[in-house]
Amino acid sequence: MNSLSGNSNKINILILGGGGREHCLAETLSRSSIAGEIHCAPGNPGIGRIAELHNIDPCDASAVVDLCASRRISFVVVGPEAPLVSGVSDALRRSGTLVFGPGTDGARLEGSKAFAKKFMARHGVPTARFDICHDIGQCRDALVSRKSPYVIKADGLASGKGVFLSDDVGEAERICGELFAGSLGEAGRTIVIEDFSHGRELTVFALTDGGGGVKSFRLLEPSRDHKRVFDGDMGPNTGGMGAYAPVNLPAGAMGKVVHDVLLPTLEGFRSEGIDYRGVLYMGLMLDQDERASETMVSVVEYNVRFGDPETQVVLPLYAGDLGRLLLACAEGDIGAIDDSGSSGCALCVVLASGGYPGEFKKDLPISGIDGDKSGASIYHAGTKYGPNGEVVTSGGRVLSVVGLGDSFDEARRVAYERAAGIKFDGVHYRKDIGWSEG
Ligand code: GLY
Repeated sequence: MNSLSGNSNKINILILGGGGREHCLAETLSRSSIAGEIHCAPGNPGIGRIAELHNIDPCDASAVVDLCASRRISFVVVGPEAPLVSGVSDALRRSGTLVFGPGTDGARLEGSKAFAKKFMARHGVPTARFDICHDIGQCRDALVSRKSPYVIKADGLASGKGVFLSDDVGEAERICGELFAGSLGEAGRTIVIEDFSHGRELTVFALTDGGGGVKSFRLLEPSRDHKRVFDGDMGPNTGGMGAYAPVNLPAGAMGKVVHDVLLPTLEGFRSEGIDYRGVLYMGLMLDQDERASETMVSVVEYNVRFGDPETQVVLPLYAGDLGRLLLACAEGDIGAIDDSGSSGCALCVVLASGGYPGEFKKDLPISGIDGDKSGASIYHAGTKYGPNGEVVTSGGRVLSVVGLGDSFDEARRVAYERAAGIKFDGVHYRKDIGWSEG
């Protein structure tokens, strides 16, 4: 097949998903030299200003394949994990469409935490010591062999609600019992119990073309998200309340990420016959070994898609043509794309509905989104059109507000000044995103 990433033809692109990540992807891809029409399913009101929206379920493989055929779409970028785990990439590839996103074989790294831990063990990728439990007796044994805090993970996809931390062994056992009883449905029928990891979390995206070797990937800027709902990293976990990039890392840390984590993972794909064309999200823990004065890197989780809200700070910094890069991954030809690098600083503040991550109201009118000249970007997530055509809230994480600058201070100022101008009843957001960068 002729390479599409290497010629000057424009192609129609479909983005699957409808959150802040997909809005940022749509905006970035719309500027690509390869971009013809931009389509999105299902999208949101913000994406609708850039792309043609299609009200179809991104996990419905035959509907997605039919849409590509009817609209002459030759390239699909999959945003969330669910379509990847359910086989939409495989169906599209069978139909001859190029896809950025792994098939079900690669997607198991996110779809099953037990599979991911065993994959890491097989390929010497550093990760916390773990036990895989199928009944409460195995959980008890795994818990008593550890000290608190106890880390309990449901095996399957759980929309960010499948990881539990407890200081109390009795409570930890109760959580395991509830999972086996079906509190998260099938996702909790197998449980991973692992040692608590100390250090600071880091997200690194590696884009890869399935080649499985040192020439088959490109790294984007490292980023850090803020998962807890309140300032000071307090309160329950969320899908992410903000993020920043790049992260100031100790010398040699990225080299260790590549050497200790990425290359063994790519070699694992190669040796297990997994043709992984997409982004590998490495959720990492960095810890300082005082005696060796060396940074230790271990994997907290793999995801098989871009992170949200990390995407909203990483993609705006990328200096190259993202469309060509993602397409080259899909074509298995990343070597054709120069490493363009990234520049500047970005900081994202997520505006959430009152009560999130617990119960929250929907359908609340949002003001202050339009007509601003601050230079900040606003990416829609939990929004929809109300009955009178106005934009209203429809989810927990409503908007991502992103500031860019030559320094963190500038990116932070731009993001927070813009966030302060957006109003809806109950809006809340963290005031300390990027605190660790000073
Ligand atoms: N920000 C965390 C995630 O995307 O999974």
